[in-house]
Amino acid sequence: MVFNSTNKATQSFMQRLCSLLIIAVFISGCTGTRQIRSTTVSLKGTYKNDFLIGTAISRQQVAGKDPVAVKLIPRQFNTVTPENIMKAEELTSSWGKYDFSWADKFIDYARVNHLQVNGHTLIWHSQMPAYARHIQDVDSFRAFFTAHIRKVAGRYNGRVRSWDVVNEALNEDGTLRRTPFLNKLGGNYIADAFKLANEVAPNTDLYYNDYNNERPEKRAGCIAVIKKIQQAGVRIDGVGIQGHWHVGKVPFSDIEESILQYAALGIKVAITELDIEVLPRNFTGAEVSQRMKMDANSNPYVNSLPDTVQRQIADDYGKLFKIFLKHKDKISRVTFWGVHDGQSWLNDWPIPGRTNYPLLFDRNGNPKPAFYSVIAAKNK
Ligand code: G3I
Repeated sequence: MVFNSTNKATQSFMQRLCSLLIIAVFISGCTGTRQIRSTTVSLKGTYKNDFLIGTAISRQQVAGKDPVAVKLIPRQFNTVTPENIMKAEELTSSWGKYDFSWADKFIDYARVNHLQVNGHTLIWHSQMPAYARHIQDVDSFRAFFTAHIRKVAGRYNGRVRSWDVVNEALNEDGTLRRTPFLNKLGGNYIADAFKLANEVAPNTDLYYNDYNNERPEKRAGCIAVIKKIQQAGVRIDGVGIQGHWHVGKVPFSDIEESILQYAALGIKVAITELDIEVLPRNFTGAEVSQRMKMDANSNPYVNSLPDTVQRQIADDYGKLFKIFLKHKDKISRVTFWGVHDGQSWLNDWPIPGRTNYPLLFDRNGNPKPAFYSVIAAKNK
């Protein structure tokens, strides 16, 4: 009996041991499959004395449903931008009716993870709520414009370090884009937006944000916008250079010249949406309305990125961070437009369903050579 009971005890011990072994093998197998190789080196730690290092985060990541990003975000970054959660289209679907539930979750996520917040974006012609796009009466449109800024920027006053107050208001030639805001409110709408934001968020840094505004022509238009805001006696604290660039074609000299020229206006420069396109595309920038047709050459790296391209993007990122370091006194923040390659908007724009590799971490959250190149830029 004793033997039997010992037998039973041994049997149950062995069963427990086997299940533990099976679990261990499964976990190691998963880890092995996903080959997550965490690194103790961090972007935010490496650049802690230079500028903030951030990332755009998605609703899925705020909800903790991106297993690759869960650890990466708090470990690598010290500021976050909502990729879509705080856009007007996501906050309001009818007049005066707002749903801040996800924006509040985003703010809480940042607080819990000790992350600063850049709000994105108060005024943008894209992703406007349909009801606002269809307002014909000028007074009603101005009422929407005023109420939206006051409601959103006012709600998060004190919990958001900076706002992209107005996003992408310029054409490539530096003229003002014919958006519903310009058409209905006139050329002062940008200064008006900053004035309203300042009224309800007096301690939040207020930025104008755009892509390709490192290019001379668009930069001139951007400088004119900034000067007009300043000449109106309205507060503007910084300009965002989005940084959606192409591998092997990063305009390093334009970028450096732009940092100098914007800083000369007495404002900060932020690199707000950094990524480097590696797939074929016959235009640059980030005009979300643009599309391209898929052809036999559109999606060349479905299984992996060739070493030659991996090396080029690493080289590009390293050179970029050397420029940022050289002008760290002018730069407030460098934010990547996504945590890892699997999240990037460039997998689906301007052609849906491609496999892109624009960021520093791969789809499994492993640091790429570009990550180590960014770290090395600091130590050179
Ligand atoms: O939320 C809906 C979902 O309910 C629906 O099922 C799904 C399929 O239709 O669409 C989802 O909305 C998408 C949204 O991202 C959230 O995933 C929109 O279709 C899609 O157009 C939108 O794309 C965003 C794009 O801005 C357009 O607004 C990208 O994720 C985002 O990375 C990109 O970010 C912009 C910046 O805000 C401004 N600067 C350029 C940058 C790149 O375009």
